[in-house]
Amino acid sequence: MRKSWVIGNWKMNGSLVENERLVRDLLNQASFSNCVALCVPFPYLSQVANLVNGSGLILAAQNVNSHSSGAYTGEVSVSMLKEMGVEMVLVGHSERRQMFGESDLSVAEKAGALVESGLTPIVCLGETLDERESGLAKQVVLSQLAAVSAHLGAAGLAKCILAYEPVWAIGTGRVATAPQVQEVHAWLRRALAEIDEVLAQKISILYGGSVKPVNAMELFGCVDVDGGLIGGAALNSADFVAICQTPCKQ
Ligand code: 13P
Repeated sequence: MRKSWVIGNWKMNGSLVENERLVRDLLNQASFSNCVALCVPFPYLSQVANLVNGSGLILAAQNVNSHSSGAYTGEVSVSMLKEMGVEMVLVGHSERRQMFGESDLSVAEKAGALVESGLTPIVCLGETLDERESGLAKQVVLSQLAAVSAHLGAAGLAKCILAYEPVWAIGTGRVATAPQVQEVHAWLRRALAEIDEVLAQKISILYGGSVKPVNAMELFGCVDVDGGLIGGAALNSADFVAICQTPCKQ
């Protein structure tokens, strides 16, 4: 039985007032069907750490630098995040790959630094529309996975969560269909099984890209989907709560 997750990625949104309202709305819920984490912008980590303290909601960050310290102006290290109570960190989000030039190697190095310090990397993978339309989706997601796997090995990979986020479905309202999502998740799980059968059965693979309360049930019903990575809908407490309460099939 794999852990199922609903992870909210706030991206570059929020304010002290809005964050408090959103988190308090979540804390008012008695329980959720999935484990829940919030990827919060750096300046608000301390605020949200205090709000979620002892609640079972997990504090997560959206990025990290793989170096441990030094002259890297504007960057944040794993130990800094750990000190703030962060347990999980997104790495390789497509917005970072596309807008900030992150490579497969830098994503793998970030994941490695996190695993080494006992934090959970949420490794994002996904193809662009062009790549999908050129029939390259499988090759792209498997090569993104291979880069992380080469750096971490099976034991390190076992400490990660994977998130398949087709770039064309992020923030566009254009959701991948359940069969499209299941197909990619099955490719990923098969590739993992070639590394290690037990790893393949244990690792959680989330889907992200325009997940809303109306489509969460169908997407989470796919056998290889272990929850979701949620952008826009994570900023609306009613929507996010509804998604958190949508059970995964397995
Ligand atoms: P949307 O849910 O807004 O499409 O964003 C998905 C995402 O990028 C989560 O990381």
